[in-house]
Amino acid sequence: MKIEKMNLSDVSSIQEIENASFDVPWGYNSFVSDIKNSSSINLVCKIDRQIVGYCMGWMVEKEFQLNNICIIKDFRKNKYGYSLLIHLLELLEMLECEKIFLEVDEANYKAINLYEKLGFVVSYIRKKYYKNKNDALVMFRSLM
Ligand SMILES: CC(C)(COP(=O)(O)OP(=O)(O)OC[C@H]1O[C@@H](n2cnc3c(N)ncnc32)[C@H](O)[C@@H]1OP(=O)(O)O)[C@@H](O)C(=O)NCCC(=O)NCCS
Repeated sequence: MKIEKMNLSDVSSIQEIENASFDVPWGYNSFVSDIKNSSSINLVCKIDRQIVGYCMGWMVEKEFQLNNICIIKDFRKNKYGYSLLIHLLELLEMLECEKIFLEVDEANYKAINLYEKLGFVVSYIRKKYYKNKNDALVMFRSLM
């Protein structure tokens, strides 16, 4: 397994994973503009040459916002999500980033467990934030 910087040539594979994973998937243009954005840090996890997952976010000043993380369904529960985030956290520490934030649906216990395992805590709650009326948990972790 290798973790690498995301490239424009990765977008079609990522789009397939995204479409199969989310009710409201990001569109092609969102991926392309994020990859081109100089504030963004986007990683892919590969086995041989196949992309099995990715994570994406923006670093502004000393704060990072994780905007997306996803692993192909058949590859879940194999520590790829965990490994991607460990790699990201190490990278952010090297860049002297101080904090990381993310937002997650209160019902997404798999992702919440993953974030808690990595030391994230709930910072505040956005009530009935999603279309399904679920709350959004804004989770936070200090770096360094
Ligand atoms: C959330 C997601 C990225 C986790 O990736 P993953 O590679 O399957 O997770 P890992 O194998 O690295 O698991 C790490 C930890 O996450 C938690 N976790 C992952 N899958 C879980 C599951 N099915 N049930 C409960 N906890 C789970 C556990 O704490 C796990 O640690 P453990 O294996 O010691 O129990 C993956 O489920 C996914 O892509 N989901 C769809 C997209 C999504 O919801 N993204 C997050 C949006 S906020």
